[in-house]
Amino acid sequence: MATTDTLGRPVRDLRISVTDRCNFRCVYCMPKEVFGREYRFLPRRELLTFEEIERVARTFVELGVHKLRITGGEPLLRRDLERLVERLVGIDDRLDVTLTTNAALLESKAAALAEAGLSRITVSLDSLDDEVFRAMNDVDFPVARVLAGIDAAAAAGLPVKVNVVVKRGQNEGSILDIARRFRGTGHVVRLIEFMDVGATNGWRTGDAVPAAEIVATIGAEFPLEPLAPAYRGEVAERYRYLDGAGELGVIASVTQPFCGDCTRARLSADGKLYTCLFAVRGHDLRAILRSDAPNDIDELIRGVWARRADRYSEIRTEQTSSLRRVEMSYIGG
Ligand SMILES: C[S@@+](CC[C@H](N)C(=O)[O-])C[C@H]1O[C@@H](n2cnc3c(N)ncnc32)[C@H](O)[C@@H]1O
Ligand code: SF4
Repeated sequence: MATTDTLGRPVRDLRISVTDRCNFRCVYCMPKEVFGREYRFLPRRELLTFEEIERVARTFVELGVHKLRITGGEPLLRRDLERLVERLVGIDDRLDVTLTTNAALLESKAAALAEAGLSRITVSLDSLDDEVFRAMNDVDFPVARVLAGIDAAAAAGLPVKVNVVVKRGQNEGSILDIARRFRGTGHVVRLIEFMDVGATNGWRTGDAVPAAEIVATIGAEFPLEPLAPAYRGEVAERYRYLDGAGELGVIASVTQPFCGDCTRARLSADGKLYTCLFAVRGHDLRAILRSDAPNDIDELIRGVWARRADRYSEIRTEQTSSLRRVEMSYIGG
């Protein structure tokens, strides 16, 4: 039975983090100074098993979720991830099961993921300029291998989206290049305002390049017109190229918060349920799943959603951005 929260929002979308580890150290997400050698990642036994993840996902599907996004950390670091895709697809064949990845391991995994029933894939790529990209991922990873991953996904028949986080002074000069490269390919680019997730990326309001500026930059070379949202709760504002070369999206979570329509829940790799990306504390589902009464999670999840009242992005300031809260690599972007 469907449930709405205290602001009348239904739950439609579950983001599932399968690991808090990553092979990149993106400066806006897992800065090396914090996520260096000393950092304590979750031990393996603390991660939810694929069976446990499937159990939680089933409850959400009963509550009205029709989209499951696998994320992390870097989800392709989790061994046999295609087995999880198979399990999730098996819950209901109308489900949209998607994956967000940095694509470092995608070239060899794309076919298996498509075979397992993945609906589509989102690849993060912040610049086509090798020097800028290597500086942003901070592990010297080359652009060419991400592009090879994108090509492998497309060849396996997966629709592709490309996520670009735009940080002032770092990659705003890459916006047009990316638009040029992916226009006309069918891959939809989504440009994201750099957000103050977690408490480690040193965010300041001025670091986010406003979506309106991004649209103006691209629109000056390739005229654009806005498109209506495809569904309630869609985070990207969509635009189409007037010359018919496809569409792009911008995600203005800083300059135009969209909490009023947020229909997303998030499951961390160790089984905590969060109802906001900017939350401080989650609800421990793993403890219940591993107890004598695992079926109690249905009631818990329903209650958590029914009591939900968060709308952090709408009340953000530089002061609130320094409050302690969970990291994006842990909760799943
Ligand atoms: C946390 S990552 C996890 C999945 C995978 N490792 C990847 O990078 O695609 C999910 C998405 O969050 C975005 N992201 C991370 N930190 C962000 C921030 N501070 N502001 C906006 N987006 C961010 C990433 O660019 C990526 O597209
Ligand atoms: S954005 Fe993705 S690839 Fe980059 S550090 Fe975060 S989890 Fe890793």
